[in-house]
Amino acid sequence: MIALEKQLKDELKRFEAKEESIETIFIGGGTPSTVDPILYQKIFKLLKPYIKTNAEITTEANPNSATKAWLQGMYDLGVNRVSFGVQSFDQDKLKALNRAHSPKQAKIAVLTAKEIGFKNLSLDLIYNYQGDTKALLKSDIEQAFELPINHISAYELTIESGTKFASTPKVRQEDDELAFFVAKEITKHGFKHYEISNFGSYESEHNKGYWKLKDYIGVGAGAVGFLKDTRYYPSTDIDAYIKNPLKIKEESLTTDELLTERLFLGLRSNIGVDKNILNKAMKKRADFLVEKEKLFKDNNLYKNTNYFISDELVLYILG
Ligand SMILES: C[S@@+](CC[C@H](N)C(=O)[O-])C[C@H]1O[C@@H](n2cnc3c(N)ncnc32)[C@H](O)[C@@H]1O
Repeated sequence: MIALEKQLKDELKRFEAKEESIETIFIGGGTPSTVDPILYQKIFKLLKPYIKTNAEITTEANPNSATKAWLQGMYDLGVNRVSFGVQSFDQDKLKALNRAHSPKQAKIAVLTAKEIGFKNLSLDLIYNYQGDTKALLKSDIEQAFELPINHISAYELTIESGTKFASTPKVRQEDDELAFFVAKEITKHGFKHYEISNFGSYESEHNKGYWKLKDYIGVGAGAVGFLKDTRYYPSTDIDAYIKNPLKIKEESLTTDELLTERLFLGLRSNIGVDKNILNKAMKKRADFLVEKEKLFKDNNLYKNTNYFISDELVLYILG
């Protein structure tokens, strides 16, 4: 936490943070629920003057380590949203995914969070794990909706290099139809599909901030920050980070790269793309997609109706 404080102080200067300017906070990466809430106190104290009233403050949590005492401690610090890494309510699938919690533990964790008073609760589900069927996913979604949540993130399983799964890529199945199925089942329950992997009766402001390419500070090993047109990467190695939290790699994006980012992020969500950022030829192609009812216009914005084909639409517009 000393390293974290040191970097945070430095970043607040870099970002020229003003009083009450922070709209959202996200505590994530790894498992925040293995860290005693007391240890977050200093960070919250440091941030307090900068946090806007009613800011959305999320913490990620693992169902097995998010105990009642931990959740209460985080609530007392001002956290108002919890995102639980549930992944599935199927015992065998959880085991195969190497998760340490049981379906029951996940349900208890969400119910406990509700009881404590958290305003916004979300859970993550995973699909396209080898052997996933419509029946299994339907059951996962139904069990999710029995809980007092207002948000679900449904992620397609991806295989990261360096993980146990990297040597057994067959754990991931390719089935585009399941993505549509999952989206249909979740929206049936009244949640809005507001980004390729995100659904809710409440749309996370923090998530939307990323997709609008708003500035964000990233503190901690492996965190990413973004300011104007530059990404900031502290070390991903925890020991190296602790030794030197101010050693940060910078990557500046060109105007073209920023435009491409805006297109991908805007069309894979309900954010949309401002027509004024497109050149004449791109606008012509986007208008053609409107004519073909692949996109629609909302004032100055081009918006997408089918997030699952957003990559193809972007590549078409870029020409
Ligand atoms: C933005 S989160 C969304 C999680 C969740 N589904 C929700 O709606 O709250 C997605 C992932 O990005 C990670 N993450 C968030 N902010 C980050 C940052 N600034 N740098 C690196 N990773 C970040 C989180 O730990 C999380 O695993």
